[in-house]
Amino acid sequence: MADEFTRRRTFAIISHPDAGKTTLTEKLLVAGGAIQLAGAVKTRGDQRRARSDWMKIEQDRGISVTSSVMTFDYDGLVCNLLDTPGHEDFSEDTYRTLTAVDSAIMVIDAAKGIEQQTRKLFEVCRLRDIPIVTYINKVDREGRDPFELLDEVQEMLALDIAPRVWPIGMGTDFRGCYDLHRNQFWTSDAPGGACNLVIDMEGPDDPRLAELVPPHILSAAKEGMELAIGAYPEFDPQSYREGHMTPVIFGSALKDYSVKPLISLIAEHAPPPRPSPADTRIVEPSENPVTGFVFKVQANMDKNHRDRVAFVRLCSGEFKRGMKLRQVRTGKDVMVHSPIFFLAQDREIVDEAYAGDVIGIPNHGTMRVGDTFSEGETLRFTGIPAFAPEILRRVRLGDTTKVKQMRAALEDLAEEGLIQVFKPAIGSQWIVGVVGVLQLDVLASRARAEYRAEISYEGLPYEMACWIKSDDPQALKTFIESKRSAIATDRDENPVFLAKSAWELDYTIKNNEGISFLKTKELE
Ligand code: G4P
Repeated sequence: MADEFTRRRTFAIISHPDAGKTTLTEKLLVAGGAIQLAGAVKTRGDQRRARSDWMKIEQDRGISVTSSVMTFDYDGLVCNLLDTPGHEDFSEDTYRTLTAVDSAIMVIDAAKGIEQQTRKLFEVCRLRDIPIVTYINKVDREGRDPFELLDEVQEMLALDIAPRVWPIGMGTDFRGCYDLHRNQFWTSDAPGGACNLVIDMEGPDDPRLAELVPPHILSAAKEGMELAIGAYPEFDPQSYREGHMTPVIFGSALKDYSVKPLISLIAEHAPPPRPSPADTRIVEPSENPVTGFVFKVQANMDKNHRDRVAFVRLCSGEFKRGMKLRQVRTGKDVMVHSPIFFLAQDREIVDEAYAGDVIGIPNHGTMRVGDTFSEGETLRFTGIPAFAPEILRRVRLGDTTKVKQMRAALEDLAEEGLIQVFKPAIGSQWIVGVVGVLQLDVLASRARAEYRAEISYEGLPYEMACWIKSDDPQALKTFIESKRSAIATDRDENPVFLAKSAWELDYTIKNNEGISFLKTKELE
């Protein structure tokens, strides 16, 4: 059906580690009926960890390093929740995931406010005007004053604020949450328990509220609610969709508070698939031919099967299983026999999918992050970034008979976007570049577990790598010749300049006006 895409809501949750993203994800899946048991997201994680060794790092450090997709139905809509790794060393992966969503939920810990990683991820959302719902979590614990938190969001992120759900007390005084929009009081029949009661009210002055909440808690909460209603603009869906206003929901994911109001808000107001910019034109989700792009590749999801899955966000059309799609970069047509849908706990073969959906295409290393697929049209979706690595290391191989395995590991994991690999113009040892040091640990761990190659790293005199370009090919050639010892090429043969320090880079930029030094590159 032509308008199927309008039922899609594709979103991600962004947060600083520990703010409660995993807990909220799980509660959203329960609210959507996708899982029954609380704890299932973690259980699923544990199973995954048990299956593949490289997840050991995640286990050891208690962090989540992979992104995945969870699809569930809610209120007649199809929700695609894209999970993002919280740790900043994997922010590249997160940035790319954010290119595949139409909106985001920003989770903030009520005791901590906006933390560094929240802020960085928010900036990425802002670049793309992604609408954001703010969920201030953990109000069942002592937190900061709600107005102080609202001011922080407003000032640090320069967003208009529209409070939607207000906490009635916090910490030991916490009695529930009040939905200012629907005039509903969400509470528990057991003091301090999980949310299991919802009571319709006339407004914050409703005498029934006074029967349920002790006066000293209610008076402060009522004052807060009056101010929240009076001092902030009304929620403006248009302004939210344009990325200027954020509705704010106070809640407790752990105790199930404000999960329903959150998912209802997403269902009612979050945008359906948006038009996607490509190099030649803008693609509308309502168009008939299928288009999409790869925002993530994950190799060896199942160690026994050496599989690789390209995660494709569909941008238009009605995808049908068995369809032939053109991989625009190579010009090759690919028959998509067994596309995968990612349900909360399972994978399933997809028969059809629409703009906004994410399908997994199993492949043998032919698809890479940034690839565009179409039904024949030559176009390339833009805005999927690669970042100049800030950590560079030379790779050393423990057992020199394993060169082939090491190569395969580096190539595969570069395709996956975990690392970047460079070949120096002089010398033969490969250089790997990463944005965060944990990526190096994952590389070594996966090279060992999946490719049986023992690798270690050697420091380099270089601190950063930048792509170099010029409109004048001769100028570029001369520059490359003059700096040969500091030149390498990436896996697409693009030249890269390796700088020993920020100072050296600045100096080189100043003295080579015809050359551009780029910190990000659009994936080709
Ligand atoms: P993350 O994915 O953003 O890193 O956060 P996660 O959901 O794992 O939550 C981090 C910690 O915060 C967990 O505690 C979790 O139980 C707790 N938490 C999440 N939401 C709430 C909430 O609404 N209220 C309270 N009080 N706590 C919350 P943990 O002790 O680190 O883990 P666990 O042992 O409970 O699993």
